[in-house]
Amino acid sequence: MHDPATLARLVRGCRAVINLVGVLNASPEGFRRVHVELPRKLVTAALEAGVPRLLHMSALNADPGEPHSLYLRTKGEGEAVVHAALAQGLQVTSFRPSVIFGPDDHFLRRFATLLRLAPGVFPLACPEARLTPVYVQDVVDAFVVALEEARTVGRRCALCGPRTYRLRELVALLARTLGLRRRILGLGEGLSRLQARLLQHLPGQPFTMDNYHSLQHPSVCGENCLPELGIPPTALEAVLPHLLGPHQHQARLQAYRAGHHA
Ligand SMILES: NC(=O)c1ccc[n+]([C@@H]2O[C@H](COP(=O)([O-])OP(=O)(O)OC[C@H]3O[C@@H](n4cnc5c(N)ncnc54)[C@H](OP(=O)(O)O)[C@@H]3O)[C@@H](O)[C@H]2O)c1
Repeated sequence: MHDPATLARLVRGCRAVINLVGVLNASPEGFRRVHVELPRKLVTAALEAGVPRLLHMSALNADPGEPHSLYLRTKGEGEAVVHAALAQGLQVTSFRPSVIFGPDDHFLRRFATLLRLAPGVFPLACPEARLTPVYVQDVVDAFVVALEEARTVGRRCALCGPRTYRLRELVALLARTLGLRRRILGLGEGLSRLQARLLQHLPGQPFTMDNYHSLQHPSVCGENCLPELGIPPTALEAVLPHLLGPHQHQARLQAYRAGHHA
């Protein structure tokens, strides 16, 4: 998909292009290739093929001026690239979600695994970081609604759940839901950085310095677009037991139903 000829073939005849590609950890070149160069190629492909609409997945706090987190900086640069195409007639909307939860998501799965491995005490970096988890089905619904809503063209839509949590609260909620008795030991700034420096060398990079820097920004929506798009934000508590329950093969269906009846 990084090959312009392939992209041109993929978008030909489409009414819209939806870009969900992203990486949480990469080299500086990797981040740039995926978050900035790919959107640039997509814009070119869409314009040349006469595709009128582009929905682009960014992230809350994405900012081209971000000094530390390459994830947030390159996401911000990519967002700027796609919005610049408005001037050429491409109808662009970007989405800026807080952390997304749903079946098999990275965030809950990573903490669930670490909690299961922890021997009673769970050392947690950045315990006071603020997050406003948003349900994946709500994010999908926002894309679907925006696809047909002309008033979303040119908008950068922040997407958040109904409640902001400290990371410490989220991990405690997860432990309770999993039935695990763990004492959460919040690490201070120095130890949080040390944990990131160490864990970023493990396979799968469970926590990196870039993640640490991202967590320094409160992941909180100033103005949440979900209500405005007619989507009531789903509470994490309504869905979590279904996501982590014993019958995970039914999780998708149950979580979907729970979200829509919450
Ligand atoms: N999950 C969250 O909490 C969250 C929050 C805010 C924003 N977002 C954004 O939402 C989007 C989807 O996130 P996700 O959680 O669904 O992530 P994901 O499961 O890792 O999906 C990322 C997608 O990007 C593709 N991709 C990654 N690196 C690529 C590369 N070098 N070349 C081509 N394709 C590549 C992956 O393809 P393969 O499957 O083939 O690897 C996958 O389809 C991303 O843009 C992410 O930054 C996510």
